[in-house]
Amino acid sequence: VLKRSFSSSAGRAAIKHVTVIGGGLMGSGIAQVAAQTGHDVTMVDMSEDILSKSTKYIEKNLTRVVKKKFKDDAEGGEKFLRETMARLSTNTDANNAAQKTDLVIEAIVENLDVKQKLFSGLDKAAPQHTIFASNTSSLPIKDISVSTSRADRFGGLHFFNPVPIMKLLEVIRLPETSDATFQSLMDFGQAVGKTTVEAKDTPGFIVNRLLVPYIMEAVRLLERGDASARDIDVAMKLGAGYPMGPIELADYVGLDTCKFIIDGWNKSMPDNPLFNPSPMLNKLVSEEKLGVKTGEGFYKYGKK
Ligand code: NAI
Repeated sequence: VLKRSFSSSAGRAAIKHVTVIGGGLMGSGIAQVAAQTGHDVTMVDMSEDILSKSTKYIEKNLTRVVKKKFKDDAEGGEKFLRETMARLSTNTDANNAAQKTDLVIEAIVENLDVKQKLFSGLDKAAPQHTIFASNTSSLPIKDISVSTSRADRFGGLHFFNPVPIMKLLEVIRLPETSDATFQSLMDFGQAVGKTTVEAKDTPGFIVNRLLVPYIMEAVRLLERGDASARDIDVAMKLGAGYPMGPIELADYVGLDTCKFIIDGWNKSMPDNPLFNPSPMLNKLVSEEKLGVKTGEGFYKYGKK
């Protein structure tokens, strides 16, 4: 059972206005799906220039959605695009943006200090009822939440890349997260069209806790010379039915990201051999072969 239903709606507030902080890869996707599903959205980033690029990127993605969804209804498609874009505004000042909002979703740089500073300011600026959530992949939600005085209104909303396509949302619950907050976050996830799963604030939550060691085991198999990269990928695609093999998945995620996550877990949990670093992965990263985004990782790609 993936979706959970709740018999009581007591105390849960509907999310109407969302503030998305960070207009990068994840933030722009989150802003898009929220606006697309009828929420008013303010997207925040450091400069007008970044925000204008993110807005153009969202518009381009929406045009693709319209082409698919409104194939025989040009007028309806035009209206959908216009109305979605009208619900999206931008701001370079996070505290100002959060003054009238029901939910803040943070998707900025993966740095604890920077995230804490941001939330500490937002805590003072946002209304009492506003719920805070982080989209962090590798930092404990708890460590971020301690910068605020609203532990009961704090949780994690962990989306997957690319946000408009991936159907899953992990909703992270801290021991302090109130039932009403948790239910609002679950409702919001379903309102933006995602299937929600509940996870505790443990390293990697559900998906990455299983996926990252799996990728690392595949890299170690390759490293030992037990099979070629291509054969590992073909084997897992055709033998396990996975849409991508683990080695090509590592290239797609980014080898720097894989290294960042595994190094962090190795540091905090040195006794677990699944989290051991890999010399082969480290070498590729030191040569700036980071995967698809740089044109080479375990495989070579077209020029970038
Ligand atoms: P990104 O680098 O594409 O975007 C981050 C954006 O935040 C940039 O546009 C940057 O200008 C902005 N930013 C940085 N500091 C800021 C501040 N203090 N105030 C306002 N804006 C600021 O990064 P990406 O990949 O979108 O990741 C963002 C977060 O999402 C990270 O916490 C990451 O762990 C998490 N995440 C990433 C996934 C991925 O596949 N890339 C998947 C799930 C979560």
